[in-house]
Amino acid sequence: MSDREVFEPLARGALVPNLASYRRLHARSLEDPDTFWAEEARNLHWKQPPPSGAPLLTYNLDPSRGQVFTRFMPGAITNVCYNALDIHVLRGNGDRVAYFCEGNDPKDVATVTYKELLGLVCRFANVLKKHGIKKGDSVLICMPMVTEAVVGMLACARIGAVHSVVFAGFSADSLAERIYDCRAKIVLTVFAFWRGTKLIELKNIIEDALHKVETKYTYKINKCIVLPHINTVATANGGDPKASWNNARDLWWVDECETVDNFCQVEWMDAEDPLFILYTSGSTGQPKGVVHTTAGYLVYASTTFKYVFDYKPSDVYFCTADVGWITGHTYLVYGPLANCATSVLFSGTPFHPDNDRFWDIIAKYRVSIFYTAPTAIRSLMKFGDEYVKRHDLSSLRILGSVGEPINREAWLWFRSVVGNNKCSIVDTYWQTETGGHIITPLPGATPMKPGSASFPFFGVEPTLLDDNGAIIKGPGEGYLVFKRPWPGIMRTILNNHKRFQETYFAKFPGYFFTGDGARRDQDGYLWITGRVDDMLNVSGHLMSTAQVEGALAEHSAIAEAAVVARPHPIKGESLYCFVTVNKTHRFDNVLAQELKKLVRDKIGAFAAPDEIQNAPNLPKTRSGKIMRRILRKVATGDRDVGDTSTLADENVIEELFANRRP
Ligand code: WT7
Repeated sequence: MSDREVFEPLARGALVPNLASYRRLHARSLEDPDTFWAEEARNLHWKQPPPSGAPLLTYNLDPSRGQVFTRFMPGAITNVCYNALDIHVLRGNGDRVAYFCEGNDPKDVATVTYKELLGLVCRFANVLKKHGIKKGDSVLICMPMVTEAVVGMLACARIGAVHSVVFAGFSADSLAERIYDCRAKIVLTVFAFWRGTKLIELKNIIEDALHKVETKYTYKINKCIVLPHINTVATANGGDPKASWNNARDLWWVDECETVDNFCQVEWMDAEDPLFILYTSGSTGQPKGVVHTTAGYLVYASTTFKYVFDYKPSDVYFCTADVGWITGHTYLVYGPLANCATSVLFSGTPFHPDNDRFWDIIAKYRVSIFYTAPTAIRSLMKFGDEYVKRHDLSSLRILGSVGEPINREAWLWFRSVVGNNKCSIVDTYWQTETGGHIITPLPGATPMKPGSASFPFFGVEPTLLDDNGAIIKGPGEGYLVFKRPWPGIMRTILNNHKRFQETYFAKFPGYFFTGDGARRDQDGYLWITGRVDDMLNVSGHLMSTAQVEGALAEHSAIAEAAVVARPHPIKGESLYCFVTVNKTHRFDNVLAQELKKLVRDKIGAFAAPDEIQNAPNLPKTRSGKIMRRILRKVATGDRDVGDTSTLADENVIEELFANRRP
């Protein structure tokens, strides 16, 4: 990777037209954040603006000086759904398309305008109300990429309920844990759906999860509202579409909507009322319910969407992220809708019916802004340029990447083959915790370096620290932290403010610590170097080593397990597991297969390990801590293991290499 390789930005007539204006605006946003954010908030609707003269952004990031907090626009009153839908209809934009819905099957298409979406949301909000959902109640949504997933989220926002969307690829165990953790009163799901050529019988997984919620946690949800979604359900389910149906609890989405009308008053919310919970992996294994609130999240989602994608009303925007992840929340739902944008909502896979599905969709809808992940780019690259060249992608002007560092080769392919050398690329660095982009190029302003997320967004001030917490000035590499919050930063971990403070603010008091490392080059560009904690990033899915190790250890044959990431050409990282088998068992292929299945079942298919290695002994320090650094070397076959003097037994290294999987 070369620090000196630079590509000029290509977006013409951009909102931020050059580097000097970015620098000026950024400096101003740091000098006087309140004025900057007040200006951005002006485009949104406030039932009641914040009291005049009161500071907009207040915070404390140092636990030794009291509770850590961030508050934005205290005293202001608004509603996120009202800003996403009603204002556009009131301003005469009701007939604009909110979503082009493209199903798994290319023939399964629909269009939803802002006015139509508002109607669907109001109706469904009334359904939730009818079943007792009130302000502050949690609703868990586990659905594929259908319009109703968005409808469910917005309906919650409309009535002040807190949604918790869980990716429809999690196992029943993971789901149960999340349903219970947020004390969901209602679960929204679909009966079954197609992902490529695979039928996912989601309702049955939900059924298992709800059973676990009752038996393991002795907790009961009130209702489960189910969208039929596909008409092949009957055959898929042995002819009886109600095979696992609980009459007292389960309801059909469509039937329920018929019992209510489509007028629903919004619930006016305080600026700091919670909007949603989204679970992210924690390094202790237990997922963290990241809490985002109303005004700050809304302003931040809306502002980052506008500047980072240089959004214009003539754009058609296509974000391939699933609604179950933060990208789906901020840049498929709230950011675009707050800007009255037209988006593509795609529920299939990039490989079905063929490997050119993304390119087909871009050409079909004349997409101008395309936002996807490095793992998708890499997997599509390997099919060759022909698939791309088959389609007219001349409508594209901005390409975005998110989820992990993008390697130079993928970046260059994205730019030249997909973008035909005519598009700016925005490599957007952020996290579930940050709510929106925090380090990213701006398409009209930032000269691009392939693989560098470049510079901070407005109001954001990154710092690099060394091991002692000292600030690294100029070029160097260290821990990536932030001196001050921005409006969209998470506020707490659900029911666990202590864990919130310990996770993000204990290591470097006074700073928000991302868990990532970064390098600053001689031009001030930031290059994210990846996680510095025991986290894994497989195909853009973040999980902790502890979570996977916990799943492996549940097998009766396993005494101990240690998991590391190994670089993978497509997935970014893949899981390489070391297991110590009990004296009563033997390691063999059958066991390895069982363990892989166990991880899939416990966590989800995306977490399935690539390799399981027999490890009669693990490399441990004298105090018994597993040295994953050494295991990473074994996994990649790198004999240069570094300092081993702190190992309790240095002989384990030879044994580990002898049992290594290719
Ligand atoms: C972690 C956050 C943000 C939405 C998707 C993932 C890594 C994310 C980049 C990027 C380098 C990146 C970081 C981060 N990451 N984007 N552009 N360059 N690394 O959200 O599951 O909360 O994961 O993804 O390691 O901490 P998430």
